Amino acid sequence: MHPEATGELTSLLYDVALAAKHIAAFTRRAGLVDVLGKAGAVNVQGEEQQKLDVLANEVMQSVIGKTGRVCVCASEEDEHPVPVPLENRPGKYVLTYDPLDGSSNIDVNVSVGTIFSIHRRITPAGRPGTLEDCLQPGRSQVAAGYVMYGSSTVLVYSAGRGVHGFTLEPTIGEFLLSHPNITTPPLGTYYSINESYYDRWSEGYKAVVRAFKGLDGAGHGRNARYIGSLVADFHRNLMKGGVFMYPADSKSPQGKLRLLYEAAPLGFIVEAAGGAASDGERPILDIEPTSLHQRTPLVIGSRDDVAFVERTLASRKAGVS
Ligand code: AHG
Ligand code: MN
Ligand code: MN
Repeated sequence: MHPEATGELTSLLYDVALAAKHIAAFTRRAGLVDVLGKAGAVNVQGEEQQKLDVLANEVMQSVIGKTGRVCVCASEEDEHPVPVPLENRPGKYVLTYDPLDGSSNIDVNVSVGTIFSIHRRITPAGRPGTLEDCLQPGRSQVAAGYVMYGSSTVLVYSAGRGVHGFTLEPTIGEFLLSHPNITTPPLGTYYSINESYYDRWSEGYKAVVRAFKGLDGAGHGRNARYIGSLVADFHRNLMKGGVFMYPADSKSPQGKLRLLYEAAPLGFIVEAAGGAASDGERPILDIEPTSLHQRTPLVIGSRDDVAFVERTLASRKAGVS
């Protein structure tokens, strides 16, 4: 379909898959090798880094930084973007990523993941990339994906033409196509939200969750599932239908999740699968980033469920019950 293609994007996706195999090997042996527990440092997010956060970040950088396919990388774990120096031949792509998502779950053997987002550079070729190359809206992503280190290791990605899932076959060390053309049901089975924050929510979110508990008498009852690992919650809802919400609240006015390497890549995937991703009012992919680690409220999953949440939030905001 693209005779002009150079194969560089394919190679970059293979590089990400190679890094994922390294990270999978560590997570699979987490109880046996010294990768559990805290790394003893706090990252730019103000969060205690887990050893596996740091390790996964180092693996991503060591694999991606020297391939000549990207000009700059940006990670949840690093305050600033990491430009690719001239001696490593900066390429035409930009990679932003969350090397290990859900790290609070590592020590208790719950699924964790890696989330990645790929843009084309917008600064002139032939020199290291910059922050400007990283601050692009989700709509302009070339590809996005995640790896979930769970009962099996699954890599799910989209380059804009469908969403495809690959399962790692450990005996040969390759990701094999196991879930071609993933689409997400328009109406979900599950709702996912951390209900311990109930008192911090707006009236709108309280009304939404009351409806998903079946208390509004309008047939919006759903099953509650919340793992606390975004990749695991997202993947279940993608496959079965459902909506994940991480609202802004009185404690986190912009929510907790980060736009560039959590909300935007998952938003790209869910739209390619027929779903939707919003900050509660507008599509995640239309948000113009202004800073590398900016946070955004996130409502993501089945198209009709996201629309229901947006309508309910809007009506409560307008003071209509
Ligand atoms: P990370 O481990 O990369 O910091 O991400 C953790 C995120 C996400 O995985 C999950 O949805 C969310 O934190 C859970 O937050 P709460 O514990 O506040 O529910
Ligand atoms: Mn994360
Ligand atoms: Mn993380």
